[in-house]
Formats: sequence, structure tokens, C-alpha cells
Amino acid sequence: MSSFSIAWLDLREPADFSARDKSLVNHALNWLGQKEDPISPDRILVDLGSGTGSTLRALTKLGASNFVWRLVDLDGKLLDEALKRHGKQLLIEDYQADLTVVNELPLTGANIVTASALFDLASREFCDALIARIDSRKTAIYAALNYDGTTQWSPQHPLDEAVLAAFNKDQLRDKGFGPALGPAATAYLKTQLENAGYTVQIAASPWQLHGQQQQLVEALIDGVANAVAHDYGIDQNALDEWKQFRLQHAATGNCTIGHWDLLALPATKS
Ligand SMILES: C[S@@+](CC[C@H](N)C(=O)[O-])C[C@H]1O[C@@H](n2cnc3c(N)ncnc32)[C@H](O)[C@@H]1O
Repeated sequence: MSSFSIAWLDLREPADFSARDKSLVNHALNWLGQKEDPISPDRILVDLGSGTGSTLRALTKLGASNFVWRLVDLDGKLLDEALKRHGKQLLIEDYQADLTVVNELPLTGANIVTASALFDLASREFCDALIARIDSRKTAIYAALNYDGTTQWSPQHPLDEAVLAAFNKDQLRDKGFGPALGPAATAYLKTQLENAGYTVQIAASPWQLHGQQQQLVEALIDGVANAVAHDYGIDQNALDEWKQFRLQHAATGNCTIGHWDLLALPATKS
């Protein structure tokens, strides 16, 4: 598993929140509301790769209430942080578990399975096994912020295209799930979920970054430069020059990074 620091997750969270397609969230919450049972009003949401709880915070801000928040992550530090931040106000069940052991995931009774910034790290095999395990008659899926392979920088630099091509190849590296789907994640999930009988909607959720997110942009530039520094045939001096140029424009330039959100609802016929 790649490890994710609390600092990095905190840094990206505001950009993720702005980028999320709010209409898909509303649609999901409406669907969940219709399922409300007066005897047992708490609905169960299972957030895969929850980190410190960014999905929980986003959905709560957008009106989600009365959930059991079942957070699943391999990293105990991130789960502890989620409990520290929300354990007193919300009903949280934390599970430190490896998502790749799909048969043991705590999905029993789930009304919805959610994930943010996860499925581009995951593999086809993981998606197939997860879809096979989920009860497609009852459980919705909300998978937000899956990177789509597009990045536009302004101002442009002659090496942008080569860096992006290398970065997108690097996105396919195994992140603990087998070869990663990377930019193909949304399309793959959509097809497989439709084949499993779901009604699937997708919506663009690009990061639109500018000087106000300078720290995030700088971290991103650093991450991209590190990811492509070896193995992809980019000249190191040219890459250093690209990085310097990008950092020099981090406060004044713009950057758009493509992501997609997906909502899959059980077919109404059930
Ligand atoms: C990009 S982070 C996203 C975290 C959170 N959803 C967010 O949006 O802030 C991916 C998360 O998946 C978790 N993760 C990665 N591989 C995992 C695995 N095999 N089993 C469980 N969790 C995993 C990481 O620990 C991390 O919290």
C-alpha cells in the first residue's frame, strides 16, 4: 500500500470538496432518504479507504445525517485521526482492514459503499471482486474523485505533455491492489456496475487550482516530478527545469486536473 500522510490528505481536502459534483451527492442522499426505516433510522455507509474521514466530512456538510459511518482503512493512524475528529459527535465504526481481502470487508447491511480518491489506485480485479460481493439489489455505490489522466497547466511549458504522459504511465503502477486502473477507473467501474444491473451516473469533478492553493500546487508539482524522475526516459535536467518553471508559477498560474465522480444506484425494479 502507498502511505498517505494526514498533512497531504488535509491539504487536498478543500480542493476535493470544491470539486465534488454536488448533484450526485444530493441524488445519493435523496435515494438513501427514501430507504429510511422508522424503526431503525440509521443507515449504514461503508467508506472504503476512508483516510481521516474526508467523505464523511463532505457528505455531512452536504446534508447527510443519521448514518452509521463504517470507516475502513489499512492505516490505523488515519482511522485514529478520524475517530479523534468525529468520534464524539457521530456514530463511527472503524475497521483497520486490507481492502484487497474483499470477502472480509464489513459490508453487511450497507446501504451505500463510498470511496474518495481511491478507485484510480485500485485494480480491475479489486473492482470485480467488490461488485460481486456487494448486494446489487440493495447497496448503492458512490466513488468520487477518480483521476482521469488530464492535466492542463497555465502558463504552458514545452515539457508538459511528456511529463503528463509519463505521469499517467506511473499511475498504472501497482498500489497494493495489482496493476492500478489509474485514469481508466471511472470508465471501468461504470461498465462493470452497469453489467451488474446498476443505474450509473458520472459527473466531472476537476480540481481547479490557482494561487490560493499554492501549497497544494507545489506539493503536486513535487509529487509529479518525483513520480516521473525514473523509468520514463525524461532527461533529468529538462525535468529539473520544468519543475523550477512550475514552482515559479505556482502562485500566479492555474492548473486543472480531471477527476470523475460516479454514483451507482440499484435498479428500481428491485
Ligand atoms: C488517496 S487516499 C484517500 C483517503 C480519503 N478517502 C480522502 O479522500 O482523504 C487513499 C486511502 O486508501 C487507503 N488504502 C490504500 N490501500 C489500501 C488497502 N489495500 N486497504 C485499505 N486501505 C487502503 C490509504 O490508507 C488512504 O487512506
